[in-house]
Amino acid sequence: MHFQWYPGHMTKARRMMQENIKLIDIMVELVDARVPLSSKNPDIDELAKNKARLIVLNKIDMADARITKEWENYYKEKGFFVAKVNSRSGAGMKEVKKLIEEACRDKKERDRKRGILNRPVRAMIAGIPNVGKSTFINSFAGKACTKTGNKPGVTKGKQWIKINKNVELLDTPGILWPKFEDQKVGLRLAWIGSIKEEILDTTEMAIAFLGFLQEEYPGALEARYHVEERSKALAVLENIALERGCLGKGGQPDLEKAGLIVLDDYRSLRLGLISLEMPEGKMFPKGTDERKM
Ligand code: G4P
Repeated sequence: MHFQWYPGHMTKARRMMQENIKLIDIMVELVDARVPLSSKNPDIDELAKNKARLIVLNKIDMADARITKEWENYYKEKGFFVAKVNSRSGAGMKEVKKLIEEACRDKKERDRKRGILNRPVRAMIAGIPNVGKSTFINSFAGKACTKTGNKPGVTKGKQWIKINKNVELLDTPGILWPKFEDQKVGLRLAWIGSIKEEILDTTEMAIAFLGFLQEEYPGALEARYHVEERSKALAVLENIALERGCLGKGGQPDLEKAGLIVLDDYRSLRLGLISLEMPEGKMFPKGTDERKM
C-alpha cells in the first residue's frame, strides 16, 4: 500500500512547530483513542523534549472503553500525564485544565523563586490530521475565551487563547504526520477514515478489516450482517455483499461496495465501540464493549 503525503507541507508544518515550541511550557498531544499509537508521531518526543507533556486520548466516545483504560495506563507508565476526552461533547475538558496546571507545577515554582508571579502556563495542541485538534481547541476554549496577541515578547501575529488566569493556549495547532513504517499503521488509519480512500484499495482494506474483527471482536459481524463469520474474510465479504444486495454485472457480489458499507458502518459506530490496537504484549479483551451508545 502506498501513501502520498506532501513533503513541502510537512517541512513547513514542522518548522512552524519548532518555532512555536520555543514559546510554550507544555505540549498537549492529541491521539485518537481507537488507535493511540498509530495516530502518534514519535518525532514529537524529540521536538518537545524538556517540555511538560500531556497526552489526550480523544474521541473516547468512539473507542472501546476497556482498551482506552489500557492505553491510559500505558502512557502514564511512560511518564506522561494522560486525559481522556470527547471533544465533540466537551467531556473531560475540566480534567485537561487540571492536568495542565499539575504538569506545570514545577515550572510555576521555579518562576516564583525567580520572582515571576502570575505568569500563565502556555500550551500548544498538536497531533496528526483529523485527530480532532480544531474541535478540541473550540471545546477547550469554550465561548468565554478572549484572544490575546502581539504582546511584547510574542512573535507578531501569534494568538493566545486565555483559558483561565493560569492557562493560555496557542490558537494554531501543531500538525504532525503519522509514521507509516509499519504497514499496520497505515491500515488502521485508513480504517478509521483518516487517510483518503481514493489512494487505497477499498476491497483489500475491507478484507483486512474483516480479518481483524473476526480475530479480535468475534460476534460483531454476525450481529450486524447475519452472516456466518467463521470462514475466510473474503467469503464473509461476499456474503455481506449478497446480504446487502450489492451485486455487480452478472449478479456477482460487488465487493468494493460491500467493503465501503462495512467501513462506513465501523466509522459510524454501527458495529459497536471498537478499538484497533492494544499496547504491546497485551491481548484484546474479545467480545464487545457493552457501553450504551
Ligand atoms: P483536526 O483539526 O485535527 O484535523 O480535526 P478536526 O477537529 O477537524 O476533527 C476531525 C473530525 O473528528 C471532525 O468530524 C470532528 O467533529 C471529529 N471529532 C473530533 N473530536 C471528536 C470526538 O471527541 N468525538 C467524536 N465522535 N468526533 C470527534 P467531521 O465529521 O470531519 O466533521 P464534522 O461533521 O464534525 O463537522
